[in-house]
Amino acid sequence: KPPIIVRDFAPALGLKPFKLISELMAMGVFASMNQTVEETVAVKVAEKFGFLLEIKHRGDAAAQQAKLAEKAKKKKDPNVDDPKDLVPRPPVVCILGHVDHGKTSLLDAIRKANVVAGEFGGITQHIGAYQVTRGERKITFLDTPGHAAFNKMRERGASVTDIAVLVIAADDGFMPQTDEALQHVQNAKVALIVAINKIDAKGANIDQIKGQMQQRGIASEDWGGETITVPVSAIKGDGIDDLLEMLALQADVLELKANPKAPASGIIIESQIDTGRGPLATVIVQRGTLRIGDAIVCGQHWAKVRAMFDDQGNNVKEAPPSTPVRVIGWSGAPDSGAEFKSSKNAREAENIAEEEEDRLRKLAAAQAAAPKESSIESLF
Ligand code: GTP
Ligand code: MG
Repeated sequence: KPPIIVRDFAPALGLKPFKLISELMAMGVFASMNQTVEETVAVKVAEKFGFLLEIKHRGDAAAQQAKLAEKAKKKKDPNVDDPKDLVPRPPVVCILGHVDHGKTSLLDAIRKANVVAGEFGGITQHIGAYQVTRGERKITFLDTPGHAAFNKMRERGASVTDIAVLVIAADDGFMPQTDEALQHVQNAKVALIVAINKIDAKGANIDQIKGQMQQRGIASEDWGGETITVPVSAIKGDGIDDLLEMLALQADVLELKANPKAPASGIIIESQIDTGRGPLATVIVQRGTLRIGDAIVCGQHWAKVRAMFDDQGNNVKEAPPSTPVRVIGWSGAPDSGAEFKSSKNAREAENIAEEEEDRLRKLAAAQAAAPKESSIESLF
């Protein structure tokens, strides 16, 4: 902060220094030739002589700015994507709804439509997620039993789902778990599409469902609301293509993007130990591209990716954003819903995983050592 010195300040105001000194004195400020004048005082004096004194710490500000820019440049955050690296990615869709309203049947129907439309695939395997291709577009479906995965991910604050399809049986209507699922979707701020299923069933009443939707503030588009609603029959296959089209449309609206160039990270969908192949985990890549040979860590487990497969059992060499793959090469089975991240190499991955294991072990030991409250029963 450059000081305002009487000797320099006086001529700037067109005054002799002694005149300035006496002016200051009149204001109760006693300053000699080589002393500094406070900013607020200087502004007042200047005003008295018809000047507007603006104090800009130009030197300081410019230097500070440069320093900040330098800093920002140096530690370019590797977790933040440069917008020019972002490219469109497929939506990740989950299917929710009340017991027996047809979630599994719908997932099967979508997968079957895809297999029929596409080439002869391998044997369908349940890996917890699959991807269908519709024209040029891909859509990823989470195929996990019940709401388990969705809830677990929400608990952890990680979110993998972009669009939720709420299945409501046309012959049954909203049920407790339908409302519960709707609540989850709204809390998670995930896009909603309603599939009114079982339209072939006796007693199916589409309008009744739409009325119930309106009562809940999620009126269907054709009822003047905003909720995309598709009547389907998972059993007969009616409306499945419409549903896929609406999902693709919704994905466009959401403008989903990711950086395929970044180191891969994503979410564990499910995992298990296979007697032949060791621990397996199905993951969805959210950012970056996962490749064979990559080292990844998830909690106390790590993997050097030995092989990857899709839900048809096909070998996959690389998995860009929104791709579900089953990964082989894990040290143990990672938790579903947990996040995985890339490491520089296997050694680093192993170290990070071991540190985490150590931390968890100590935590468990500390908890075990903590004095327990004895209950009345145990005293007897
Ligand atoms: P949970 O996993 O137990 O919660 O059930 P879910 O929602 O996965 O339902 P699921 O697909 O198992 O279907 C339940 C029953 O409804 C089965 O008997 C299906 O055959 C029947 N169902 C499913 N979709 C349709 C449909 O479009 N029309 C008719 N008529 N029946 C259907
Ligand atoms: Mg089911």
